[in-house]
Amino acid sequence: MKEAGVGIETQSVDVALFDMVMSLSRALDLLHPAIGEHHLRVAYLCASIAEHAGFRSNEIQEIIIAGALHDIVAVCKPHSHSLLDRVLSRYDDDMADGECIHEHAEEGYHVLREFPPFAQAAAIIRFHHVDWNFGKGEFQGRLPIPLASHILRLADRLAVLPTDDCLILCQKDHIRQSIQAGTGSLFCPELVKIFEDISDKESFWLDLVSKHKEKILSHRFFGETSIRLRMDNLYGLAKVYARIIDYRSAYTASHSSRVASASELLADRLDLPASTVRLVGIAGYLHDIGKLAVPVALLDKPGKLTAEEMLLIRQHPYYTHQILSPVPGLETIGMWAAFHHERLDGAGYPFRPRQIPLEARIVAVADVFTAITEDRPYRKGMSKKDSLGILNKMVRDGALDGDIVSLLPAIYEDIHHAQELALA
Ligand SMILES: [Fe+2]
Ligand SMILES: [Fe+2]
Ligand SMILES: [Fe+2]
Ligand SMILES: [Fe+2]
Repeated sequence: MKEAGVGIETQSVDVALFDMVMSLSRALDLLHPAIGEHHLRVAYLCASIAEHAGFRSNEIQEIIIAGALHDIVAVCKPHSHSLLDRVLSRYDDDMADGECIHEHAEEGYHVLREFPPFAQAAAIIRFHHVDWNFGKGEFQGRLPIPLASHILRLADRLAVLPTDDCLILCQKDHIRQSIQAGTGSLFCPELVKIFEDISDKESFWLDLVSKHKEKILSHRFFGETSIRLRMDNLYGLAKVYARIIDYRSAYTASHSSRVASASELLADRLDLPASTVRLVGIAGYLHDIGKLAVPVALLDKPGKLTAEEMLLIRQHPYYTHQILSPVPGLETIGMWAAFHHERLDGAGYPFRPRQIPLEARIVAVADVFTAITEDRPYRKGMSKKDSLGILNKMVRDGALDGDIVSLLPAIYEDIHHAQELALA
């Protein structure tokens, strides 16, 4: 029953780190209507200031990654809407409660540094709400604070000042004055001077509100020099993304990781090549990334969903596809991930493809298996007998692939063991 991945080469993978960062950054900007293009704007501003501060090209790439992902915890964490409102508010509003504004920066640092190519960006993010405080902001305790963190601090506040109600060029003088007012206290004077120099040009402001910022960043600062992610690196990055995806819902804190483990074991037992097994694991880690576009209140809603809420949740595989498929090199994995709610009888959602690749059918079985056997705060996971009963019924109903489900009784315990091992 082995079947090719719809004619696409799956033996190797080669994805640009920049494209992966931008895919997650775009996903973060989908999370909340107030976010707009916050992460992308901050990335653009960071790059412009760092370039004129004399940063080397690899350092500029690191600060772009930091800008593109800096509020990752604030926007993903459940029940943090008040924090979200504050991190996106004008810079003088976050003075009242300086304490907890740093928590999302610290947590973001810990999540992102798990992936070695993000280590520098994570260190920059860690201090992105520390004020310059007339030079005292060069250190926190004994820890030196990178100048890049102060660039991010400035860019972060700058990015929220433009409003949509009038032309950006009509706002530029007011914004420049607002930043000037924070010189020395909030922002490093040397950086404010650089900002004043570069923001004199109209093109600086037009680029800031341009719809093509991603292209500008890619061409000007990455080009051919973006780090290439091969299999192991992409796998490591998918793991970090899974943590972020699972961050959003207290009810499914390890779901993506569990689906990845189950998918890999099933693919292995189907004798797929080792490289395909790894790629199926990546699809498992990323399958629910589209849930970033679903309001967290719905993901965690106890009790029955209304018909409209159900339709909203059912959009998530569509967004999985929208987030992953623009990344060159990730098209196949994105499709396997996005097809996880499709059914063999064509009654699934949201794409209803004529053919569902074997790898996507594996992720679909792993998803249902994991969802019904994992513990949730409001219920225990199902027993082996009950869960296999449900899965076999789904085979009879034309939803799942019977050849894949038939492997489960023999490897049921192995899957649970692999899932726990992956989380350890
Ligand atoms: Fe922040
Ligand atoms: Fe921010
Ligand atoms: Fe899903
Ligand atoms: Fe899922």
